[in-house]
Amino acid sequence: MAVARPVRVVIIGAGERGANVYGARLHTDPRATVVAVAEPDDDRRAHAVERFGLGDGAAVRSWDDLFAAPPDADAAVVATGDAHHVEPTLGALAAGWHVLLEKPMALDDADCRRIVEASEAAERTVAVCHVYRTSHLFSRLHEVITSGQLGNVVSIQLSENVAYWHHAHSYVRGLTRSSRVPMLLQKSCHDLDLLAWLAGAPARRVTSLVRPTELTEANAPPGAPERCTDGCPHQPTCPYDAVAMYVRLEPMLRDLGQHRWPPGLRAVAPALGKVRSMAQDAPLASVRRAAEWRRWPLTAVSDDPSPEAVTEALRTTRWGRCAWRVGDNDQPSAQTVDIEFTNGVLASFTLQTTSHRSMRQVRVDGTRGTAMGELAGLESWLEVTDHRSGRRRRQRFPLGTDGHGGGEAPLVDAFLAGVNGDDDGATSAREAWESHRIAFAAMAAASEGRAVDLQR
Ligand SMILES: NC(=O)c1ccc[n+]([C@@H]2O[C@H](COP(=O)([O-])OP(=O)(O)OC[C@H]3O[C@@H](n4cnc5c(N)ncnc54)[C@H](O)[C@@H]3O)[C@@H](O)[C@H]2O)c1
Repeated sequence: MAVARPVRVVIIGAGERGANVYGARLHTDPRATVVAVAEPDDDRRAHAVERFGLGDGAAVRSWDDLFAAPPDADAAVVATGDAHHVEPTLGALAAGWHVLLEKPMALDDADCRRIVEASEAAERTVAVCHVYRTSHLFSRLHEVITSGQLGNVVSIQLSENVAYWHHAHSYVRGLTRSSRVPMLLQKSCHDLDLLAWLAGAPARRVTSLVRPTELTEANAPPGAPERCTDGCPHQPTCPYDAVAMYVRLEPMLRDLGQHRWPPGLRAVAPALGKVRSMAQDAPLASVRRAAEWRRWPLTAVSDDPSPEAVTEALRTTRWGRCAWRVGDNDQPSAQTVDIEFTNGVLASFTLQTTSHRSMRQVRVDGTRGTAMGELAGLESWLEVTDHRSGRRRRQRFPLGTDGHGGGEAPLVDAFLAGVNGDDDGATSAREAWESHRIAFAAMAAASEGRAVDLQR
């Protein structure tokens, strides 16, 4: 039997997703090999060269340089920032490559169409990273629905509850603080994709309401200085304190402590903060290194995870800004979206940003049964109840240590299968377009105060 040659992959944008998530996975996967990188940041580019063992000339500064002399490759990962997905995707398709494209695929409907049409004309896969479709919870829920166990689906309720600290990191202090890239598109295109996929039909009508951000200068606690490191009197009680968040990692560790750990670890989990701070002071360098958090969200703040380097970053960069006084953040505090699908299914979605922890909750009600599920932190479960018999089955899924409910590995599998010409099950650009259309319609509905008809 012929052994398939590893898929040769180019990483465009060697940041958190491009290098640390997909690059790292593909590099260690025998079915793939990373052959080139385009990344303007010198440190990130150098790190990628070392990490992926790239030869001379295989790392360039931008996608323009890459397409000027395209390397021999089969596929590209496009993981540049939200506003820079269209050009590299079209360039990669023109080079004859398949594309694993980070969401959102584009910021307007015309650009989504360009990607869909270019992918179909080139007969190349553009798999959009709708990573929750392949998560334990939602892939199982989809199976339950399509198996007919719930009868005819009547309604779906889904909420994305963004933890207050995640919101402050990404949508207040962070790069995505401007609603020029609406949070509903940037973050919740995943949820709108899930709704369309679970409903099994395109959307017909959309309405939406928005609540503006609370995190404004007018709402700032009295006497709060510009930075959390400037002797803020509210530091001991403010949920958005950057020192508690980035130096002591309090909210992340508390979240981990809330998981259902195996019996031996249960006692340790609530004390993770103390355990970590003891390890940070340990005489053994290997123990100190084990206490370092080289993951999101700290990777955005400082390349060096030591408390000294992080504290310095809080003193000098936007990551230490008082969350109430950032000033140019206007992502909403909450947004609701109601959707009628062409098969009659009604869906309601809530995005809110003041949750105690990041979690998605879903319920699907049909003529024969109800399914309810939750994905909170690394954990997820699904409970299905049959109306006639009353039988209730709760399934707990393995921990999703990828931070996406276990969806990343199967997403990469699906993409590699698609590149090799197998039936892939990845979310094609055409399918992903539907979630983006719903997001654009919801934004118009919210700003114009009307229902938007999506029938073409
Ligand atoms: N699927 C998911 O669940 C998920 C999760 C997080 C982020 N994302 C998306 O992934 C994308 C990347 O996010 P990230 O957190 O990795 O961002 P990042 O800022 O860490 O990485 C983006 C990289 O692109 C590089 N870049 C900029 N211009 C370039 C150019 N001309 N050529 C090549 N590279 C260039 C930047 O220097 C940066 O290193 C975003 O669109 C984000 O919304 C998706």
